[in-house]
Amino acid sequence: MKTDLFFYTGTGNSLWTARTLAEELGEAGIYPISRTGFAPNHSGADAVGIIFTVNIWGLPRKVIPFINALAGGPGKYYFAIAVNAGQVAATLLQMEKLMECNGFIAGSGF
Ligand SMILES: Cc1cc2nc3c(=O)[nH]c(=O)nc-3n(C[C@H](O)[C@H](O)[C@H](O)COP(=O)(O)O)c2cc1C
Repeated sequence: MKTDLFFYTGTGNSLWTARTLAEELGEAGIYPISRTGFAPNHSGADAVGIIFTVNIWGLPRKVIPFINALAGGPGKYYFAIAVNAGQVAATLLQMEKLMECNGFIAGSGF
């Protein structure tokens, strides 16, 4: 199973998380959300992970248009990892709702 990991980081913790997960998974591409030019729905991966820092009890501003650009591919597994400092609040619910608004389901959140 091929996984694409998209990350948004301020100080590097989310990048570290993406790299660590990629190592565990064995075969995973890592792409920065702020610089990625291609729409994630064009990814040929079976699973798509979105890894981001929690900012002010929610999603960082730049992650939102990125999620809006996602399109649910048939059979694709989407998951989110909210890297935080102890106050994740409702960030994963915000992500779930945002994904739902775009017509697809978050498989899991961590
Ligand atoms: C502007 C700002 C807002 C933050 N807001 C939260 C927050 O609401 N809840 C939380 O748990 N951590 C918060 N943090 C801490 C980061 O989520 C945490 O340090 C995280 O590990 C940083 O990940 P990064 O290195 O990928 O940016 C905030 C950090 C910054 C700089």
